[in-house]
Amino acid sequence: MNAQIETTGIKRLIKSAFQGFGYDVVKLRRSKLAKPIDENYVEILDDPAFQASVKEVSGITLLDTARLANLWMLCRASNPSGSLIEIGSYKGGGALHISNSCPTRPIFVCDTFEGFGDLKIDPGADRHFKREQFTDTSFESVQAPWAGKGRDVRWVRGYFPESAENIEISNISFVHVDTDLYESTAKTLDYLRPRLIDRSVVVFDDYLRSVDGVVRAVREFTAAHPDWAAFPLFPGQGLMINRDWFA
Ligand SMILES: C[S@@+](CC[C@H](N)C(=O)[O-])C[C@H]1O[C@@H](n2cnc3c(N)ncnc32)[C@H](O)[C@@H]1O
Repeated sequence: MNAQIETTGIKRLIKSAFQGFGYDVVKLRRSKLAKPIDENYVEILDDPAFQASVKEVSGITLLDTARLANLWMLCRASNPSGSLIEIGSYKGGGALHISNSCPTRPIFVCDTFEGFGDLKIDPGADRHFKREQFTDTSFESVQAPWAGKGRDVRWVRGYFPESAENIEISNISFVHVDTDLYESTAKTLDYLRPRLIDRSVVVFDDYLRSVDGVVRAVREFTAAHPDWAAFPLFPGQGLMINRDWFA
């Protein structure tokens, strides 16, 4: 009992020491896999272009290899005549990776490039997120790796979708929504719906990953627009497609 109290006291002490230096301490939840992921003969893992892209973006994205693989394959599966868009880019690695998978297609990269700022963070649905997160980036550092690549990249800086007021966004067929927040996700979907062409693919990050705001926004959208259906993708993404895929 005494040892228990002592351990709790030490943990609290360590936590407040880190907080004193401006860091937060959170407990990570890890699952022990009875059947670890089998990488043998998984074709995308041997694709040199995919490998090079993962290497290029590894320091500037929060996305792991599995989620990067889903983005790579689904972007290529979407209507090739449409443009790509990522909403919520932070350090830009996810957007660059999506562009690497389909380098000839135009891409819109949307973020404040300085964190959540004044965006609405719902204390319930968005409870895992803090206003100070994602501030360790900058517009210039996100732009830098694109220099000399010859990509058709359009920067949409500010609070999306208001930030797109004077930018022509249309003919989209691949969307990566990685905003974390309920209101941002809901507004993004409403804004993009009329701008999506047939055989579009929408991928959400943090779907069924204890981020209630994202799931709520997607469920509300599919309830209001039953021609769209959403499915979970392992690990922690969602896929949404329109019935036009089956026409
Ligand atoms: C989890 S990070 C994105 C991670 C990134 N996709 C990656 O590959 O690492 C979430 C980002 O969403 C941005 N964000 C959230 N809502 C936004 C909105 N309405 N407009 C612009 N940026 C937004 C934040 O600024 C933050 O950079």
